[in-house]
Amino acid sequence: MPAPHGGKLVRRIDSSKSIEGMDRVEVSRDMAHDIENIANGVFSPLEGFMCSEDFESVLHHMRLANDVPWTIPIVFDFEDGFKEGDEVALVAENGMEAIFSIEEIYTYNKKEYAEKVFKTTDVAHPGVKKVMEMKEKLAGGKITLIKEGNEEFNKYYLKPYETRILFKEKGWRDIVAFQTRNVPHIGHEYVQKTALTFVDGIFINPIVGKKKKGDFKDEVILKAYDALIKHYYLKDRAVLAILKTEMRYAGPREAIFHAIVRKNFGCTHFIVGRDHAGVGNYYGPYEAHDIFNEFPDLGITPIFFRSFFYCKKCGGVVNEKICPHDKEHHIYYSGTKIREMLQRGETPPEIMMRREVAEIIMSYDNPFVE
Ligand code: ADX
Repeated sequence: MPAPHGGKLVRRIDSSKSIEGMDRVEVSRDMAHDIENIANGVFSPLEGFMCSEDFESVLHHMRLANDVPWTIPIVFDFEDGFKEGDEVALVAENGMEAIFSIEEIYTYNKKEYAEKVFKTTDVAHPGVKKVMEMKEKLAGGKITLIKEGNEEFNKYYLKPYETRILFKEKGWRDIVAFQTRNVPHIGHEYVQKTALTFVDGIFINPIVGKKKKGDFKDEVILKAYDALIKHYYLKDRAVLAILKTEMRYAGPREAIFHAIVRKNFGCTHFIVGRDHAGVGNYYGPYEAHDIFNEFPDLGITPIFFRSFFYCKKCGGVVNEKICPHDKEHHIYYSGTKIREMLQRGETPPEIMMRREVAEIIMSYDNPFVE
């Protein structure tokens, strides 16, 4: 099992502390998730929100100031009201409580942030839009979690120290992680099972948190995976648990971030398929593969897949590396196509989606994020 990123698993939890009498700031659900991720070591080696040195280094070099790979800023934005040295209580609607020790307050350039992380400043990109809507200042400093948020999907939630114990108990040495924001189609299943052939177990780790309009709702994704695993996976070869963080849609940079997080959960390998964490046409289909060349010191091994599709001539699921037939024989696993069929009330064919999975999705009046 790989050591946590940066060497040690961060744990910044102290339930004996109290926020009584402190200034309180209400944070969003997504920020509450990331506070818990810091505190539970999901984001090891981060111990808090980034100060300017790490932030700038991440933007320009895709590494923390100490040279450890890190590609996505984890920052706290605010308007006014704090100064360096303050201790502030961060609270969220889900009951999360934490103490934020503000070390540094700094300003930043949103265009540069967007350009570096998302490779575009187009506000039609959901990640760029979010950055442009952020408040004008950033505060960096350590976080101490006092109380976890209470959330409906917590039964699917495992912390890195728990997954590390679980994998050991299962006797798994090589563990491949699968990131997803989608309900599973046959292409997803094929990627997972092909990887699983070479390792001991798979950690299926869907993202729960803010997604864009038209993506599937968290509950639908989890129920769909429950059905898929129940009917089509060996029980002792797959673990399903959520990652509570928002999708950034940062394509290649997010692929590295996704891999680092799964390394912290104890995984040795990470699946990267076609257009990983992409949106629209902002990234090349395999840009998220190429970026791994820049991180020989990542500490988790990527497993790259060309896009899988169904070939009528082969009579099975293939990709361009193994199928000699022309495009006219191919049926692609397009999320958009599947979504449109579901919206029309049509069941996707079984070469695209398992019947049990389609049934779960179709049991919802509206399975999509509005
Ligand atoms: S993502 O935003 O989380 O990347 P999604 O949940 O659709 O989106 O994909 C999860 C993983 O499966 C990603 O690594 C993606 O590249 C991969 N993937 C999705 N569809 C295919 C496919 N048809 N062939 C190969 N890999 C795929």
